[in-house]
Amino acid sequence: MSQPILTLDFLDTPAPTAPADHAHTPSGEVRVSAATSTGRQRKLYIESYGCQMNFSDSEIVSSILFQEGFDTTEQLEGADLVLLNTCSIREKAEQTVRMRLSQINGHKKRNPGLLVGVLGCMAERLKTKFLEEEKIVDLVVGPDAYRDLPRLIQEVDGGQKAVNVLLSREETYADITPVRLNSNGVSAFVSIMRGCDNMCSFCVVPFTRGRERSRDAHSIVRECQDLITAGYKEVTMLGQNVDSYKWASEDGLEQVNFAQLLERVALLSPELRVRFSTSHPKDITDEVLHTMARHDNICNYIHLPAQSGNSRVLKLMNRTYDRAWYEDRVQAIRRILGDDCAISTDMISGFCSETEEEHQDTLSLMEQVQYDMAYMFFYSERPGTLAARKLEDDVPLEVKKRRLAEVIAVQQKHNLIRNQRAIGQVHKVLVENFSKRSDDFLSGRNDQNKVVIFPKENFQKGDYVNILVHDCTASTLFGNAV
Ligand code: SAH
Ligand code: SF4
Ligand code: F3S
Repeated sequence: MSQPILTLDFLDTPAPTAPADHAHTPSGEVRVSAATSTGRQRKLYIESYGCQMNFSDSEIVSSILFQEGFDTTEQLEGADLVLLNTCSIREKAEQTVRMRLSQINGHKKRNPGLLVGVLGCMAERLKTKFLEEEKIVDLVVGPDAYRDLPRLIQEVDGGQKAVNVLLSREETYADITPVRLNSNGVSAFVSIMRGCDNMCSFCVVPFTRGRERSRDAHSIVRECQDLITAGYKEVTMLGQNVDSYKWASEDGLEQVNFAQLLERVALLSPELRVRFSTSHPKDITDEVLHTMARHDNICNYIHLPAQSGNSRVLKLMNRTYDRAWYEDRVQAIRRILGDDCAISTDMISGFCSETEEEHQDTLSLMEQVQYDMAYMFFYSERPGTLAARKLEDDVPLEVKKRRLAEVIAVQQKHNLIRNQRAIGQVHKVLVENFSKRSDDFLSGRNDQNKVVIFPKENFQKGDYVNILVHDCTASTLFGNAV
């Protein structure tokens, strides 16, 4: 299956430092369905915005609709049904979808039979308002209602508009085998939980994704085993807060926490690389870190979003940890996994009432930790969140942008410093694709999630190759096989 990826420029951050397929943080990437071409009657074109959770959900949606007689296609032209799986995390993410809908309107004029649906977080946030505001939308479906798609599509086929935005306390789609749309056949995403019970004051996710629930541990392990059987070499376990994963069998006799789940998956095969995202600083335990240390195939990379380096701002953000706690968690990582474990973060600049000194604290935390990578945003007020209701969005836009630029500049420096450490070392790289620039080069990632480019020779996708790194930029390592 090919994997067309369009990158649209709707980021706050130019994000020169972020690999496109990072698990939980909206990277500004848009993913388009690949073609399944099995001769089914109707064609589904699905475009996914936002985070990996959405990309992973689109694979579940495709699986449900595959059963209903839909092949996926990578072209909007000729599709019978267009679905946009949307993101609400920042205002810009929503604007991008609105713009896309007006483009699709043009297609619909040429092809009046085309059905248009909106899925995901924006669907959940706006509900029926979508139908009022965007006349071309036929279908609005929230993240917990995808099993209802066949019925909703029947309604739309019958000439009506259809909406289901009910959130669920149980739905995990545990039994649905995703159609791997976003996959290179090497690396796959596996959702281990849905929703979020944290109430970070800036964040819309608890409203769009509902209550936190953990998926049956056995179904997760089974999905990973099936991926291994199908030739996959890497899984990334997804959740908004993987460290609060908690599942118990119905009789209560079997209880599984995240460290134990991680271990079960790691034990499936030493050839399988295991990644996960996102780790919440308040919940990441030493037990998880020791499990990582015990298993070579659990990658030495932790995405541990700080959001701010200042304790007062963290309190306003309702992150439930302060700077000292965060520092302690970083020290635990360094103590248990050593300095080679890569750490990345998300940072928000210009949150409500953030002062210049408090912004400096974010820079000083960055200097202290020296992140390998970061996703950086300026604060964007989201309707309905705690911050929108209780706090004033009072940092002027140009100040937010200037602070963000300072945060990005510091991170660029650290990206380079952390990458330079690899020069002269041999890194085990899992080959994922051809390099974007040339088919004579391959691209893969090392244990620390850094992109490594090297001459193709006779290596193939899915191979593990030992690469002697001889050069780097802030975003990429370059080397040769040894
Ligand atoms: N569950 C993850 C975050 C998911 S959202 C966690 O807790 O770390 C991804 C990132 O988007 C967040 O970490 C935050 O940095 C950013 N973000 C969320 N809401 C935002 C807002 N209103 N304005 C700007 N950035 C925001
Ligand atoms: Fe949002 Fe906080 Fe939940 Fe992350 S942990 S999804 S930032 S509410
Ligand atoms: Fe993800 Fe955006 Fe929803 S970041 S959870 S798609 S709001």
